[in-house]
Amino acid sequence: MDLKGCIFDLDGVIVDTAKYHFMAWQRLAAELGFEFTEEDNEALKGVSRMESLEILLRKGGISVGEKEKEALAALKNGWYVGLITGMTPDEILPGSLDLLKALGSEGILTAIGSASKNAGTILQGIGLRSMFDVIIDGNKITRAKPDPEVFLKGAEEMKLPPSSCVVFEDAQAGIEAALAGGMKCVGVGNPELLVRADMVVPDLSFITVKQLRNL
Ligand code: BG6
Ligand code: MG
Repeated sequence: MDLKGCIFDLDGVIVDTAKYHFMAWQRLAAELGFEFTEEDNEALKGVSRMESLEILLRKGGISVGEKEKEALAALKNGWYVGLITGMTPDEILPGSLDLLKALGSEGILTAIGSASKNAGTILQGIGLRSMFDVIIDGNKITRAKPDPEVFLKGAEEMKLPPSSCVVFEDAQAGIEAALAGGMKCVGVGNPELLVRADMVVPDLSFITVKQLRNL
């Protein structure tokens, strides 16, 4: 492909915040009186905060009104923000920094395409804000993955056609979003869980710019 831009999901691709999301959702489920497993959590990856809450409440067989939902989402977010406050560059996942540097040196643009409204806090903590040309996060979009909006906005702000962009994703919803947007997609994580990606790697240290150009 004629590679001109790379769009990275943040949580679970650049940094291991997926574990903090899980811890906070699990705590909420425990307070509501039911168990929430790592397997249950797979369905929440890449999904917006409110949609994640809906999935979790369904799992617990709990139905609440809109006001209560807002309160529960705020409670979870408070715990989550407590966990991500004070993050350091030590928590950047293997290979992320080297790949970003390699892309930069070849003139390939980079963007964040994340559903999270906390992306700014995380990027600040890990010191990677300046490594990205464009940041699209949960504050800039109205439709959650698997809708392609977040990635299409990323391509648009980089002024690139979707066909010249590759997306990196650890969530199935994100892979579907990339494909729906007409982009190539590299899955990051378990190939048994990430289907339809053009390739799947355990982390970003397993990928080179040359391999991306060959997609
Ligand atoms: C995504 C995560 O990046 O952001 C989801 O994979 C999360 O698990 C979503 O629910 C929204 O994040 P936040 O920080 O706005 O609650
Ligand atoms: Mg993710």
